[in-house]
Order: sequence, then structure tokens, then C-alpha cells
Amino acid sequence: MLEIKALNLEVDGRPVLKDLNLTIEAGESHVLLGPNGSGKTSLLLGILGFPKYKVTGGSIIFKGEDITHLSTAKRVKLGMGIAFQHPPVIRGIKLGEMVNLCKGDTSQQVTQETRTLAKKLHFSDEFLERDVNAGFSGGEIKRSEIMQLMAQDPDFVMLDEPDSGVDIENMELIGDMIGELLHRRIRPSKRTASGLIITHLATITDYVEVDWAHVMLNGMIACSGNPDRIISEVMKGGYEKCVRECQETMDRI
Ligand SMILES: Nc1ncnc2c1ncn2[C@@H]1O[C@H](COP(=O)(O)OP(=O)(O)OP(=O)(O)O)[C@@H](O)[C@H]1O
Ligand SMILES: [Mg+2]
Repeated sequence: MLEIKALNLEVDGRPVLKDLNLTIEAGESHVLLGPNGSGKTSLLLGILGFPKYKVTGGSIIFKGEDITHLSTAKRVKLGMGIAFQHPPVIRGIKLGEMVNLCKGDTSQQVTQETRTLAKKLHFSDEFLERDVNAGFSGGEIKRSEIMQLMAQDPDFVMLDEPDSGVDIENMELIGDMIGELLHRRIRPSKRTASGLIITHLATITDYVEVDWAHVMLNGMIACSGNPDRIISEVMKGGYEKCVRECQETMDRI
């Protein structure tokens, strides 16, 4: 699904990713952990091709196609989707209209299908009439991002901290919806969607099963492996200890 090779990325002239390698197969879900400022969000925005994030080396292959220099719009058309860490307020576009747009429907009228989806995400019809994210609470913004992704139904789903600031009941709902987006309820051999989930406390992994975990340090993937092991090492001893242990294991092999 996605193959990133020796990616170097700069934002406003500042290097943020250094020779980063990452491969995600079709049907796989990965989590990415790492300290604040290590480059996690920059990686997602670089994969999506935001103009501010300049590739200075390496390549991004998506579904077998080199997309390193493709526009964001074309990448989205190829099947990428994102739930942002800090999505903007969009005045003048109602949430219902945005959900329609995510489905490829340009009508401004909220359709029954959109209402049904909103209900699934525990949103009342009143929310669909509000400008996107205007005055939404932190948890409502997370649900709204997931709802837009579900309307889009991309093959490659990027989620930037979908679990931060979410209460316990909504966490279960968000976990369920992410499980649906990532085809986690169907047999692995039948899954076609893949995901990359950024998380700090790994709470989301109590609700969504994942296949791989990675730790990012200073713009590089410093350690990768079994999610249970990596998450428990990070929670116990922090990122650097986890990376040291990873490297010691590699040395032994
Ligand atoms: N537009 C920008 N101009 C200058 N520096 C930037 C810009 N955007 C990001 N950076 C810097 O790049 C580094 C990586 O930022 P990024 O948002 O990718 O971190 P992160 O790992 O997602 O952190 P967090 O866990 O806090 O969300 C940070 O030091 C940040 O200040
Ligand atoms: Mg971030």
C-alpha cells in the first residue's frame, strides 16, 4: 500500500524527517509513537503532500505509483484520507455539506445517508447545520474528523492522535469506527484498507487491534516491532529506553 524510502522532509527550511523508511502493506494497521516535536504530524502531512512540507530526498510509493511530487488532491483521489490533530474551523461550510463532499456529493442539502452516518457518530442533526468545527469541543472535533473519513472511506487512513482528549464512552465509539475504517472486523486476508495511527498513550490500541508499532525520534523511525512489546516498553521506560532495547535486540540477531 505505502512504501517510504529514505525520505527527507523540510518545513520552512527546517529539516524534520531524516532518511525515514516505512512500509505498510495492504490490510495492515500501524501505530506511531514518539515525543512531542519528533516529526509524527510532519510525516503524515508529507505523505499527503502539503506544499509547505518539501521533499528534499527519497520517495513515497503509494499503490505502486511514485507520488513523491503529486498534488495533495491527486493523492486523496488515489485513496488517502486523514483525521487531523488540529483541524481548522471552516466558516461558511456546514458539517453536513462537508460530509457530502467527502462522499463526492456536491449538494448542499443534508442527505438521509449523511444523517444516518451522523447518528452513528452520536451527532444530532443540529451539528450538521453548524460550520465545520466552529465551537466544537475537543471530543466533538475528533468524532467529526472520523465521520468525514467514514464518508470518504479511503484505502489508506491516517489518524493523528484520534484518542487525545476523548472521554471513555466516546473512546469506545471512536475505536469501533476506526475498527470499521481499517476493516479490522473482517478476516486479515480480506482486508484492503491500511492505517497509520499516531498516539501518545496508546489508548486507542485498547479498542483497535494493530499489527505493528514504531517509535519516532528526531525525525527518524528509531524502532519497530510487535505493538504489545513496543507499547509496554514505551509506557514503562520511555522512548529512548525502548529504542536502546530494540537496538540491543537487533545487535544480538
Ligand atoms: N511550519 C513550521 N515551521 C517551523 N517548524 C515547524 C513547522 N511545522 C512543524 N515544525 C517543527 O517540526 C518539528 C516536528 O513537528 P511535528 O508537528 O511533526 O511533531 P509531532 O511529533 O507531531 O509532535 P506532537 O506530539 O507534539 O504533536 C517540531 O519541532 C515543529 O516545531
Ligand atoms: Mg503531532
